[in-house]
Amino acid sequence: MALITKAVKGTQDVLPSQSYKNQFIESTVMNIASDFGFKEIRTPVFEHTELFSRSVGDTTDVVQKEMYTFNDKGGRSITLRPEGTAGAARAFLEHGLTNEPMPQKVSYVTSCYRYEKPQTGRLREFHQFGIECYGTDSPAADAEVIALGNEIFGFLGIEEIRLEINSIGCPECRKNYHAALKEYFTARADELCPTCQERLERNPMRILDCKSPICKEIADGAPVILDYLCDDCREHFDKVKSYLDAMLISYEVNPRIVRGLDYYTRTVFEFVSDSIGAQGTVCGGGRYDGLIEELGGGHVPALGFAMGLERLLLLLDAQGIELPEDKKCDIYIASIGEAASLKAASLALELRQSGVSAQFDVVGRSVKAQMKYADKIGASFTAVLGDDDLQANAVKVKNMESGETTELSLDEFTDSFMNMTLQLAASRLQDAASAGDDFDISSILGSLGNL
Ligand code: HAM
Repeated sequence: MALITKAVKGTQDVLPSQSYKNQFIESTVMNIASDFGFKEIRTPVFEHTELFSRSVGDTTDVVQKEMYTFNDKGGRSITLRPEGTAGAARAFLEHGLTNEPMPQKVSYVTSCYRYEKPQTGRLREFHQFGIECYGTDSPAADAEVIALGNEIFGFLGIEEIRLEINSIGCPECRKNYHAALKEYFTARADELCPTCQERLERNPMRILDCKSPICKEIADGAPVILDYLCDDCREHFDKVKSYLDAMLISYEVNPRIVRGLDYYTRTVFEFVSDSIGAQGTVCGGGRYDGLIEELGGGHVPALGFAMGLERLLLLLDAQGIELPEDKKCDIYIASIGEAASLKAASLALELRQSGVSAQFDVVGRSVKAQMKYADKIGASFTAVLGDDDLQANAVKVKNMESGETTELSLDEFTDSFMNMTLQLAASRLQDAASAGDDFDISSILGSLGNL
């Protein structure tokens, strides 16, 4: 296939038939985050390369192998964001949010770019929903951030997901741990990949999340950080667990989680699923108490997580969870002849101005073909407008579900149409209530075209 009609490897389109899922998920996660007090932040898709090498870390796979970096026409080294934390932290500092009352809580849905080997659940352009919370070192905040992730999975009805937590300590506990790792890996240094041989000197913890199979196998037997935590970090971790217990959030401690980015300290966590293949980590995050200082700010402890939206969609699909479909067409106004077509155009516009999803024929099809199209797009109601109707100043509106028709005046058509549908909704609710049925108001309204 010609290059110009093929998307770049590792990128994907979201077609109109699927985009309602993305829209539903994005608004759901942002609404839940808002209930927890997180407000949206938007940052640029590209930043100075140094921001990522300083924050994500220049010994990580992301910085060493995966960034989309280029020089712009002014000779600056620019990188497409591989993740959202660094940009949010930069904005937090640049705009003096440190002077605002703490904690500061932000959320985002963004595209991210990593030059990785594409496979199911792993793309070169992907999307993250993320949250970041600045200005608290309390373990209650760790549990709260985890609770937010947990709430999202719960709300969406996802069952097959487990929460794994760990603590990777502070720079103090890390010193002894690094020494232990160095000793362990030095014994098998020859077998490590060239990148990890280099990491052995500079940052041996990074070997633990190398994707090369041999490094992975060697890392399986490495010492674990939990055995090296200082008293403060241990106590912090215990308190995080107590908060999770108090909120009845189940978790497993997985001492092997180290995360692939350098800025983490203390609590790290992942929500992992076994039902979407090898890329099962749907959400990952943790504390990063040193990042703001690393970027030149004061000591501002912080934490957050990011969820891969493509992986979340895969998970919903794998678990057979249906998301509510897009708003369909409330009414399709078919027309016969030019005068009727002009009337249909003005009626449709008026209806839309009142929030009704209305369509009419913009192709010039026969009335039969118009009705076929109305059926295809799932119109809840239809009307066929002809010269006679114009003369009579009234038209029959057909309920496509029940087949019932109601004649409505063409004057004040919008008001009459809305009244009719509201009455229908009210009588359905009454029927359901008097029959003592469990009813779902949104599905009743949905079947009436979400009016
Ligand atoms: P991360 O673990 O690198 O963390 O990415 C978070 C999530 O993004 C992953 O769990 C996964 O669902 C998704 N993801 C990552 N890479 C890809 C990819 N190539 N294709 C599809 N999905 C992907 C971070 O990015 C941190 N910034 C999270 C964070 C926020 N920590 C604190 N605050």
